[in-house]
Amino acid sequence: MSEIADQDLWLFGYGSLIWKPPPHYDLRLPGYIEGFVRRFWQVRSEDHRGTPEAPGRVVTLLERSFWESLTDQVSHASAPPKVWGAAYRIPAARVAEVTEYMNIREINGYTIQYTPFHSRADPAHTTTSQQTTDSTSIQSPIKCLVYIGLPTNPQFLGPQDPQALAEHIVASRGPSGENRDYLYELETALNELSPESGDEHVSDLARRCREVEMKAKGGEDEKK
Ligand code: BEZ
Repeated sequence: MSEIADQDLWLFGYGSLIWKPPPHYDLRLPGYIEGFVRRFWQVRSEDHRGTPEAPGRVVTLLERSFWESLTDQVSHASAPPKVWGAAYRIPAARVAEVTEYMNIREINGYTIQYTPFHSRADPAHTTTSQQTTDSTSIQSPIKCLVYIGLPTNPQFLGPQDPQALAEHIVASRGPSGENRDYLYELETALNELSPESGDEHVSDLARRCREVEMKAKGGEDEKK
């Protein structure tokens, strides 16, 4: 039997957690963390948007200083200083259950870290499960748990050619659905967080994927 935590837990989502929240949260705050770069450089296999034979691609976070040492800047020069996402507050009584759930859903290839989260501090964008919560009383920054695919983990790919990456994403699917839908949902979810929360790496990949899809469709139409 798991022990009951003595404190609430804050969990930061920068990928699917933005639109697919963890269970039992009682408050969701849009906002950002700093010092990281979001990249679609993590392999994800049968549990998500691919299969063991043809694994899909999902996002991970890189330490900004590590990213700056890479050649990625040639293809995606811009990496916003803020990584936007959503922070979820898990009440103490539910922390053990939710971390167990998250560790099953997401831990494969990811490592737990804690980092300061800055709330967008706009009550209009705050979602509570119980309308009694007063989000304006919450002091930002908040220490948040975040799952990071470290470069040492076997699922970490490193710099990817954006066009090859887009083509791979369009071709991948798994039990959780089309890999491209993960990308498109991420793009939409990011754009909804704030007027400045778009991420060029994500929107450029989404644009490339739509082009790949259109070309494939054009090719099929010609065959008819
Ligand atoms: C997320 O932010 O959605 C997330 C990313 C990697 C592992 C777990 C969750």
